Amino acid sequence: MTGHDHIALDEQARAILCGNDRGGYTVPTAGLYPYQWNWDSAFAAWGFAQFDVDRAWTEIETLFAGQWPSGMVPHILFHQPDPGYFPGPDVWGAKRGPIPSSGITQPPVAATFVRDIWEIDRTANAARLEPLLPKLLAWHRWFMEWRNCAFGPIFITHPWEAGRDNCPDWDTAMADIEPVGVGEYTRRDTSHVNPEMRPTKEDYDRYIWLVQRGHRLGWDDEAMAEDAPFRVGDPTMTFTLLRAHRDLLVMCEAFGHDCGELLGWIKILENGAEVLRNPETGLYNGVNITTEQHTGALSNASFLCWYAGLDDARMADALQQSFESCPYPVPSHAVGAADFNPKRYWRGPTWAIMNALIGRGLQDMGRDGDAKRLREATRDVIATHGFAEYFNPMTGEPAGGGTFTWTAAVWLAWASPSAGGQDG
Ligand code: SER
Repeated sequence: MTGHDHIALDEQARAILCGNDRGGYTVPTAGLYPYQWNWDSAFAAWGFAQFDVDRAWTEIETLFAGQWPSGMVPHILFHQPDPGYFPGPDVWGAKRGPIPSSGITQPPVAATFVRDIWEIDRTANAARLEPLLPKLLAWHRWFMEWRNCAFGPIFITHPWEAGRDNCPDWDTAMADIEPVGVGEYTRRDTSHVNPEMRPTKEDYDRYIWLVQRGHRLGWDDEAMAEDAPFRVGDPTMTFTLLRAHRDLLVMCEAFGHDCGELLGWIKILENGAEVLRNPETGLYNGVNITTEQHTGALSNASFLCWYAGLDDARMADALQQSFESCPYPVPSHAVGAADFNPKRYWRGPTWAIMNALIGRGLQDMGRDGDAKRLREATRDVIATHGFAEYFNPMTGEPAGGGTFTWTAAVWLAWASPSAGGQDG
């Protein structure tokens, strides 16, 4: 790394994690996201684990304190009121868990980071891990029961569930929603961030309409499944859950638990991942469950296949093209696509968290050269442009929220030259 003092950047990253700590949980960034978000929190734990293992466990424990009796772990926990965010707990009206929350979940990366934290010192960390295992298992079981369709991939019921809010993968399913009766509401996100970097009003009307439907149905899984208006088989969910099943299996085996259920789920998702493969291109896309049509979008989530333990030559070729398409890969939507937008959230920008997951997968599957290239590109964009929520893949320009928890966490755990177990 030239021209940047990585020791100072490590220091800044730790300060961001500590500055976003609200006592037992971490907000993604002050103002824009003032609560505990599910996968942000798991990334935060991975970051904390690099310098404060006790705090890392606490982050995960606080997240699971919000688990619903069904096993679902909500995507937002509203620990304390904050008028700066919309939609808040009243709009969600979700009353099924011990902590006020949203009614949907988020990508299950927790088991993977929990395994990382445990591996730091298995003996010392066993007492923190053991009570979490049944909770992780219950969450994974809930996914397999309520988000796994007959033909295999994990689907989402709201774009926010994938964490990739306005990704083109949802476009056809979103277009089929008529957000009738959604009413007037005031967005808060656009008072924190340039509206050009955020989803459009057309998107938001549908996001809120889906939340209102869930509220009306009391967030009851069975009632929600009936005539579900939005179901898209999702590479983010399918690949992260497959990986998480594998990591949970290792931990359950170490504690002598019966692992039959996990082995069965791994098989189902290995087959389910194949369903994501677009027959026309051979590449992984989302698939609209209602129409059984592939979405045609090559997103950064498509490249999570290695993270899920699936090597794939066609995806490797597509990754080379993605690397060559912009100076700061991996873009969240293919640069050549007609609706590529380098600034707008998940319709083009590069996300350090996705790069970290893709890079870990590449490394695990022996694709060291690609892993190194991606890690260096991520290091470069963060070192040059700061700990932003996401980045313009063409210019590196920072976008969305600043002093962002998960970008700081990814820096400490993976992108920094000081990150443990890396090539430097
Ligand atoms: N990402 C959503 C938001 O922007 C919620 O998860 O508020």
